Amino acid sequence: MGVGGVGRSRPFAYGAQVMNDIDSLRSETLGAIAAADSLDAIEAVRVAALGKQGSISALLKMLGGMSPEERQVQGPLINGLREAVSDAITARKAALESQVLEARLASERIDLSLPAPEAPRGSVHPVSQVMDELAEIFADMGFAVAEGPEIEDDWHNFSALNIPETHPARAMHDTFYMAPRPAGEAPSGPEGQRMLLRTHTSPVQIRTMTSQEPPIRIIAPGRVYRSDSDATHTPMFHQIEGLVIDRGIHLGHLKWTLETFLRAFFERDDVTLRLRPSYFPFTEPSVEVDVGYSIVNGKRVIGGSEGWMEVLGSGMVHRRVIEACGLDPDEWQGFAFGTGVDRLAMLKYGMDDLRAFFDGDVRWLAHYGFDALDVPTLSGGVGA
Ligand code: DAH
Repeated sequence: MGVGGVGRSRPFAYGAQVMNDIDSLRSETLGAIAAADSLDAIEAVRVAALGKQGSISALLKMLGGMSPEERQVQGPLINGLREAVSDAITARKAALESQVLEARLASERIDLSLPAPEAPRGSVHPVSQVMDELAEIFADMGFAVAEGPEIEDDWHNFSALNIPETHPARAMHDTFYMAPRPAGEAPSGPEGQRMLLRTHTSPVQIRTMTSQEPPIRIIAPGRVYRSDSDATHTPMFHQIEGLVIDRGIHLGHLKWTLETFLRAFFERDDVTLRLRPSYFPFTEPSVEVDVGYSIVNGKRVIGGSEGWMEVLGSGMVHRRVIEACGLDPDEWQGFAFGTGVDRLAMLKYGMDDLRAFFDGDVRWLAHYGFDALDVPTLSGGVGA
């Protein structure tokens, strides 16, 4: 849509001609603003008038070529026009936005006085479903489920995992720290440590190793927090951690465990794994694990090896981590892994916007949720 040809290049003569142009541009543009009946239309007017190539921007550019006297007269006029148009656009936009909201509220009305439905309509959230599936798969391999607090201390979340104070990985975690207590008050964490929202489920490794005797085989699903937010990151998300500590554990055990887990989870025998060398402070060596996918009808499907996508981080537990937990690394070895539960759910069930997981929109839940009575079992198929 055009605003009566604004944005055209017009040979402006200075002085009276500019004033005429200002007047007609003002009425043209304000008319177009009043006539804009959608947010797209108002955006088009804004671009045509105030955008880089816009008509008013062109006038503003002309100021530079004027004599100081001329500029003194034209400057306030042109700037006044710019302000008037910009204010009118803001006001029109606000009005259109509230119209859109009103329309949405009217169309999404829920009658709370209706009687309750005869059959319960609740469904299990995909994140809960996937966590249940993972627990079922790992229970079959002899893993117990372990837990740790979401409000964690610095030592468990970082230091004991071989991430000292100055380690760059700390910056990468975008940590939410609790406010330190004012001077004189009792310290906020053990030994005065700063408390934080755990940035990963790895501190549960430490909590388990310091409270249980090996051999250890646990998974730890749960919420984690990072100060990050866009279509693929939410400030709270879910991870699952795995830890095995025993005598004589090596990379082969890790690979078999992950392969068995991913085949059971994706319910396909042709899931192929690719282990790439990587770096995590708490494992040595560290590996990143990719699963192969193939393209079916333009969509990625797990299985095959047309392409690879990263699904988890893992490695052999670092000697220093084992030592920090009071165990002898010459006697005890192990492997660990960690991955995002939300991401696993998205991959398996084909959801593409992470934010929808946390909107609580009943329509999304009705579509992607699972029947509460259909508990995942290996014999019945973990995918429900
Ligand atoms: N804690 C890591 C993260 O949040 C994920 C991870 C990587 C966990 C490797 C592990 C591991 O246990 O061995 O990015």
